[in-house]
Amino acid sequence: MKVLAATTNRGKLAEIRRILTPAGIEVVSPWENLEVRETGTTFLENAYLKAEAYYRRFGLPALADDSGLVVDALEGYPGVFSSRFYALTFGGREEVTGSPDEANVRKLLRLMEGKRNRSARFVAYVVLYTGTGGFFAHGECAGTLTEKPRGKGGFGYDPVFQPIGYTKTMAELPPQEKDRISHRGLALRRLLQIIRNCKQL
Ligand code: IMP
Repeated sequence: MKVLAATTNRGKLAEIRRILTPAGIEVVSPWENLEVRETGTTFLENAYLKAEAYYRRFGLPALADDSGLVVDALEGYPGVFSSRFYALTFGGREEVTGSPDEANVRKLLRLMEGKRNRSARFVAYVVLYTGTGGFFAHGECAGTLTEKPRGKGGFGYDPVFQPIGYTKTMAELPPQEKDRISHRGLALRRLLQIIRNCKQL
């Protein structure tokens, strides 16, 4: 089976490939840029919007991931705004020096200053849109936010997210260990199971 990854995020793409290739799924990346306005208010809506838009443009079954970090002390922010949190006026805009990921992390740590409750979770919704319909699955990974970034692996908020039961941040874990416990790993493995069950019907 061949699917198109409905994303231009290199970190996500690498993880989707790592998880789906061993299951016999060929993951191709988009050969031209497609901007999809994420106008949904939930991860699921945004994942559908992306999967459908990529399917229509490229004509291949499209797999989208919409994901983010949900922080209890920030009433669920950054949530669906995770990728451009630095640009939100909520809590003041972050000056963009370095990458957007770095600006996002800086904003998050600034808003978390003095907060005692540092619990957070990563959430991912994945949607496979095939033209006639779609499949979706979701996964979550719970943890706490560190005071300072640690580690060079992964992407996004990984350097400040310490999964429950670990003393390392996501960015300090080997990639295979991240895939085993991550929101995206769980969601993609559930999606695979759903597809396999459908084939047996
Ligand atoms: P999306 O492309 O709109 O789904 O935004 C996803 C954003 O959520 C990313 O740009 C990251 O900021 C954050 N995010 C999602 N998954 C992860 C992860 O596995 N590690 C770290 N940050 C993540």
